[in-house]
Amino acid sequence: MNTFQAGDVILVTGASSGIGRATALLCNQAGATVIASGRDVVALHALSDICAVPERLYAEPRDLCADLNSLPAWIQDLRRRYGKLRGMAFCAGQTWNLPMALYTPEVANQAFDICCHAPLMAGRGFCDRRNNTGRGAAVVFIAAAAALDPNPGQGIYGAAKAALTVGARCLAKEMAMRGIRVNCISPGLVQTPMMEDTVRQLGQDFLEREAPLYPLGFGQPDDVAQLAVFLLSDAARWLSGQNVPLTGGR
Ligand SMILES: NC(=O)c1ccc[n+]([C@@H]2O[C@H](COP(=O)([O-])OP(=O)(O)OC[C@H]3O[C@@H](n4cnc5c(N)ncnc54)[C@H](OP(=O)(O)O)[C@@H]3O)[C@@H](O)[C@H]2O)c1
Repeated sequence: MNTFQAGDVILVTGASSGIGRATALLCNQAGATVIASGRDVVALHALSDICAVPERLYAEPRDLCADLNSLPAWIQDLRRRYGKLRGMAFCAGQTWNLPMALYTPEVANQAFDICCHAPLMAGRGFCDRRNNTGRGAAVVFIAAAAALDPNPGQGIYGAAKAALTVGARCLAKEMAMRGIRVNCISPGLVQTPMMEDTVRQLGQDFLEREAPLYPLGFGQPDDVAQLAVFLLSDAARWLSGQNVPLTGGR
């Protein structure tokens, strides 16, 4: 039996790569109609070639930081074209790895745009009662283990993700009476292009220090996607307002 019905429309951001890509493919395989968003148009369209049911996957390219204030209207437009949303997995993100000695509001603002403002503005759009299916609808934000315990160099990124988790928890409380659930996942190192960026920025030493701390190995995108699908599904109907660490035993 499928986890979702074909009429269940799920928006997945960051669907062009890594965790978002795996989540979009798994939601589609689990029976949902998926709106796959990202900036890389070619990568988004390529999803149709590998997903389980291409007729239930739609590419919606967008730079989520181009106009943060328009994100609720964007969600409303998606609802008009695809129907009310049953779920949203907000996976888009970017990482910054630089010491606090180099903290500036300008860099922090960039991190907050994609790691905090964009997800919470999209969450605001999703939670508008005109745009979601009501009781049973669910949101998952991908935060980061750095929001709970940043490594040196992760202060800006971790602060932006920590702000996301607090906003998400509050959104969960505000939506609970309407039966809409909101949760975060905070992964440790997951083998995606973002992790490659991190290693490039922090050096091979960083990877060598981290590897022994992960008794179950580094994560794969599908490890996060499996939890995202669970949190979006009715199997998690009693779970809201949480930030679930997913760190391979670290
Ligand atoms: N990988 C890890 O170790 C790790 C650990 C903890 C948390 N996370 C979090 O997990 C999430 C997914 O990361 P990932 O590892 O899968 O990274 P990834 O492979 O680099 O994918 C990042 C995704 O975010 C999208 N994106 C970035 N900026 C965007 C913008 N301004 N507008 C629209 N889309 C944008 C990218 O779109 P385009 O490629 O189309 O530009 C891409 O689809 C992120 O929120 C990240 O912070 C990752």
